[in-house]
Amino acid sequence: MHNLKHSPLVEAPEFIVIDPHKAMMASSLDKIRVQGGTQLNGEIPISGAKNAALKHLCAAMLTGDPIQFTNMPVGLKDIQTLAALMKEMGVEMTLRSDGVMFVQAKDIHSTEAPYDLVRRMRASVLVMGPLLGRFGEATVSLPGGCSIGTRPIDLHLDGFRAMGADITLEEGYVKATAPAGGLHGAKILFPKVSVGATENVMMAATLAKGETVLMNAAREPEIIDQGEALIKMGAKISGLGTSEIRIEGVPHLHGMTHDIIPDRIETGTFMIGVALTGGTVTLKHTRTDFLTSLIGPLQQAGVTIEESGEDVIVHRNGKPLVGTDIMTEPYPGFATDLQAQFMTMLTMCEGAGMVTETIFENRFMHVPELQRMGADITVQGNSAIVRGVKKLKGAEVMATDLRASVSLILAGLVAEGETTVDRIYHLDRGYENLVDKLEACGAKVFRESSRQAEE
Ligand code: UD1
Repeated sequence: MHNLKHSPLVEAPEFIVIDPHKAMMASSLDKIRVQGGTQLNGEIPISGAKNAALKHLCAAMLTGDPIQFTNMPVGLKDIQTLAALMKEMGVEMTLRSDGVMFVQAKDIHSTEAPYDLVRRMRASVLVMGPLLGRFGEATVSLPGGCSIGTRPIDLHLDGFRAMGADITLEEGYVKATAPAGGLHGAKILFPKVSVGATENVMMAATLAKGETVLMNAAREPEIIDQGEALIKMGAKISGLGTSEIRIEGVPHLHGMTHDIIPDRIETGTFMIGVALTGGTVTLKHTRTDFLTSLIGPLQQAGVTIEESGEDVIVHRNGKPLVGTDIMTEPYPGFATDLQAQFMTMLTMCEGAGMVTETIFENRFMHVPELQRMGADITVQGNSAIVRGVKKLKGAEVMATDLRASVSLILAGLVAEGETTVDRIYHLDRGYENLVDKLEACGAKVFRESSRQAEE
């Protein structure tokens, strides 16, 4: 096995100290000011995928051996929050600012994920599968309501039950206990495609006795990346990227190193940014193959996108954008995480476009904020008709989820005057160095810390 004890960790002294409670509170009141009207031109490095990285960290608890990740988006609050939760459980970890992360779950002294952390970041429920699989028990606070819908975890729990786990609910906590001999394999047909449930159950199944078959499994690139990392750890998995995943349980998993895939949602967000402002931006170290459902509509709207080695060059020449319809669906359909940004683009199109959200029932919170900036949007049930307007106007806006927040920054880039986006805590959860990346391409973006505002 790769010897991680002597990895290059010693060469770079810059470590990130995790104090999640402090870090989260410090920036929760910051604002971002955007002065609209400049094109984006330049280069943007794309970070490792948040939605893969979080699950990789959880999976690292399936073994006591050392694991090393590269391209880990260590600047994200979500990563730091999960790292802090795992540290509290006894996992040793080092986050380095160049994206190298070292994790070793040798001695775990707690298998509980407390409310305070789960409520801040729903992905913490993904510790359940690995803990249950390896230690036979896990106690996780119920995530509760969320601003983009109810987001239940019943499919995760039904999967664990099918593998023999006993599930009880006590004082807001879900306790899962494996039977005496450990979890056993099972045939599980998910009634709905769920990214989280597929990942959680897949992780538990790697150490179960016998074969587990996941039917109607999610096919997201992040699941493939997670499955490939698990295979490097010794798991026996086939069918990744299809709706039927087979996992043959093994007694133990071992250490490995893994380079995390680029963030397709960050990539798509900047593509839409260029579509809005015009200009030419090279997105460094990313791919187009996992964004076909976005690239089609962007090309229809008049954007050119070409791959050049590990980079993607996005260009719009200033011709008007053309309205086009989209509907969010499980992968490979249009990603729900790009819906708000795409809607922002449609506000400036010629003609109109319709946006239909089928994944979450309450994911139009950006609409009233965009309307305050002058957008013409009519919502009917889970669809929104967006009629293009000549211009947006800067305003003070606020959003209560990650992708809605970034959609308002994008709107600010093309709005007349200044836009102030409040509660950017959400942005810090999922976009690494957003302000720096946009500034480097000519945008007039400025982060105002709450302390500066008070002064
Ligand atoms: C979802 C997105 C994912 C996105 C993430 C963050 C899909 C299929 N998934 O993943 O791409 O990155 O949000 O925004 O687009 N559900 C249940 N019971 C469960 C689990 C889920 O009913 O136990 C429902 C959800 O309410 C939702 C649907 O299934 O309507 C998909 O949920 P799921 O894929 O699990 O959500 P995430 O894993 O959060």
